[in-house]
Amino acid sequence: MCGIGACLSLLNDNVAPKIVKMLMNLEYRGYDSAGIAVIDSLGKIHVKKGVGRIHNLAETLRFNEMEGHIGIGHTRWATHGSVTDYNAHPHIDCGNNIAVVHNGIIENYTDIRERLISLGHEFKTQTDTEVIPHLVEEKYKEKKSILESLREALTELRGAYALVLITSHEPDKIFFARFFSPLVIGISNNDIYIASDIPAFLQWTRRVIILQDGDYGFVSADKIYIRNLYDPAVKGREIITVEWTKEMAAKGGYRHYMLKEIHEQPESVKRTVRMASKQIGDVINLIEKANYIYFVAAGTSYYASVHGQYAFAKYGIRSRAVIASEFLEEVGAFLDKDDLIIGVSQSGETADTLKAIRFAKKKGSKILAITNVVGSAITRLADRSIIMGAGPEIGVAATKTFTSQVATLDYIALNWARTHGFDVDLLISKLLNIDKDMEWVLEVNEEKAIKLSEVLKEKNNAYYLGRGLGLSIALEGALKMKEIAYIHAEAYPAGESKHGPIALVTEGFPIFSVVLRDETYHRMHIAIEEMSSRGGFIISVTEKNDSDTIKLSDFNFCAPDNYSNILAPLVYVIPLQLVAYYTAVKRGLNPDRPRNLAKSVTVE
Ligand code: M6R
Repeated sequence: MCGIGACLSLLNDNVAPKIVKMLMNLEYRGYDSAGIAVIDSLGKIHVKKGVGRIHNLAETLRFNEMEGHIGIGHTRWATHGSVTDYNAHPHIDCGNNIAVVHNGIIENYTDIRERLISLGHEFKTQTDTEVIPHLVEEKYKEKKSILESLREALTELRGAYALVLITSHEPDKIFFARFFSPLVIGISNNDIYIASDIPAFLQWTRRVIILQDGDYGFVSADKIYIRNLYDPAVKGREIITVEWTKEMAAKGGYRHYMLKEIHEQPESVKRTVRMASKQIGDVINLIEKANYIYFVAAGTSYYASVHGQYAFAKYGIRSRAVIASEFLEEVGAFLDKDDLIIGVSQSGETADTLKAIRFAKKKGSKILAITNVVGSAITRLADRSIIMGAGPEIGVAATKTFTSQVATLDYIALNWARTHGFDVDLLISKLLNIDKDMEWVLEVNEEKAIKLSEVLKEKNNAYYLGRGLGLSIALEGALKMKEIAYIHAEAYPAGESKHGPIALVTEGFPIFSVVLRDETYHRMHIAIEEMSSRGGFIISVTEKNDSDTIKLSDFNFCAPDNYSNILAPLVYVIPLQLVAYYTAVKRGLNPDRPRNLAKSVTVE
C-alpha cells in the first residue's frame, strides 16, 4: 500500500536525499502523493508534501534541500481521504511538534477524531492518519515522554499500522510502531533506516531487524530500543543479514523492472528450486497427515495456487485453491485441526491472505506458508514456511514470483509423488535444469511479443483460454494484460467459453489459447475452432512442434516440446508476460507503475 522511508544519519548528514531515494525505491507500494518531514538543528520540524510522483515532487518541492539529519518520508496509495496535497503524509499535530507517516488503516479514527476535536484539536485533513499525531500530542501533555505517549496512543488504535514519528520534543530520535503492516529497520555504519520494505535501503545495507506485530520503540544515534505492546519479555530483536543484494533490487540496464524480472526467471526459478530442496523437510509429512488441503492466496498468488491444485490432483492429492477474501465464507465452516492450509503470498503481507490464515489457525488447522520475504507476517503465523529465491520483485505486476511459486508447488508435488511410487525422476530432473529451457523461451518469443503488441495496442478486449494445467497460465496471462496494458482481458476454462463469453467474439477479437499436448488437447482445438469460425484472432501458445495447433492459429508463441505437464506454466507463461509488457509500452504506459495498484495490499 503506502511506502514509509525514514533515516537517521550517524554522521550528521542531511538525510532528505536518502529519504527521496528510499521513497523512489518504494514507489511500487503507492505513488499518488508523497512527502517528507525533517528536524533541523534547532529541533524545528519542516514538512513538504504534495500530489504526484516522488521524482517530480523532489524537483518541484526541492526535497533535497531540506536540512536535518533525522527525517521521515512517505509515498501514498490513498485509502481514506482523496488524493490532495493536504491528505499527503506527513501529518502534524496542532503545535507543529509531532510529524507522523503511516501505512495501514485506523478503523476507529472517526471516534478518536471527534473526541480530540472536543478537546480542542484542529484537523486539517480527512485522513485516518492525522489522529495519530494529535493523539500523541494529547497524551504528551500529561506524560511528558513521547515513548510513553506513543505507547498509550497505540493501545487506543484499532486496525493496522506501520508508522514512524519525529518530534521536536525529542529531536534526536525516530519513533516507530507496527501492527499488521510491515516495517523493518536497516543498520549501516553511516545511518539507521526504517522502511516498509527491505529494498528501500538495500543499496546501503543488508543488516536488518524485522519488526513484529505490537513492536514499538525508537532509534537514536546510540540506541535501537524495541518493546512489544503485548509481550513484556521482548527487549529487542535480532539483527539478520539478508541474502538479497543491491544489484537484485536495481534495474540492471533494463528499461523497466518488469522486463528485468521477466528475464531473471531462469535464474530465480533455479534458485527457488535449490532453496525448496533445502527447506522441504517434513512438508511431505504435513501433506500426508492432512485430511484436506486448502490453498489460500490473492491475485497472481491465487493463480499459482490454482496451478498447485491441478498439479496436486495429477498425483492424487485432494486440494482446493480458494481466493483469500472469500475464504471465510466459502470454506470457513468446514475447517478443522486436521486440515492443512497452504498460504501463498510473495510479500507475505497481504491482508486478505493473513486474515484467512488467522481464521484457520483459530480452528486449529496447520499452516504452511510459501513466500518470497524472510520474516514476513505470513511466516510468523505459519507452522512451516518455505522461502522462495525469487529475489526482490519491484515491478508491481508479479512475474518472477509467479514462476517461483509454481516451481515450489511443483517441487512439493513431485516429491510427494516420488515417495508414493510415481515415476517422476524425469520431471524432477527437468525442473532442476529448467533454466536453459526458460532462456530459450525468452529468446524465441521476445521479438514475436513485440510484433504482436503492435496489433494488440489497438484492442480493448481479449480472451485467454486454457484447460486443465493450461488454465492457471491463461488466468495469469489475462491478469498481466489487464493490470499493465489496461486491456479488458478475461480468462476462461476453454470449455466454458461457449456458455456465454463467445457472444462477444467478432472479427479480430484476440483469443489467446494455451494448448498443452495432453488429454485436453483435442478439446482445446474444438474451442479454438469455435472462436475462429466467429472471426476470433487466434494467438496460440504451444509446444514448438505442435504443427496442428499452429495451423489453426493466426499467431503463435512457442514453448519447448515435452512441457505438457505440471511444469508447463514455467515456460508457457513467459510469452504472455512479454506480450503484456510490450503492449503496455506500445500504449505509452509505464508497466512498473500501473494505475490504482500497489505491490502489496495490506488492507482488506
Ligand atoms: O504479495 P501477494 O502475493 O500476497 O500479493 C497478492 C496480489 O495482491 C498480487 O499477486 C497482485 O494480484 C499483483 N498485482 C499481481 O501482479
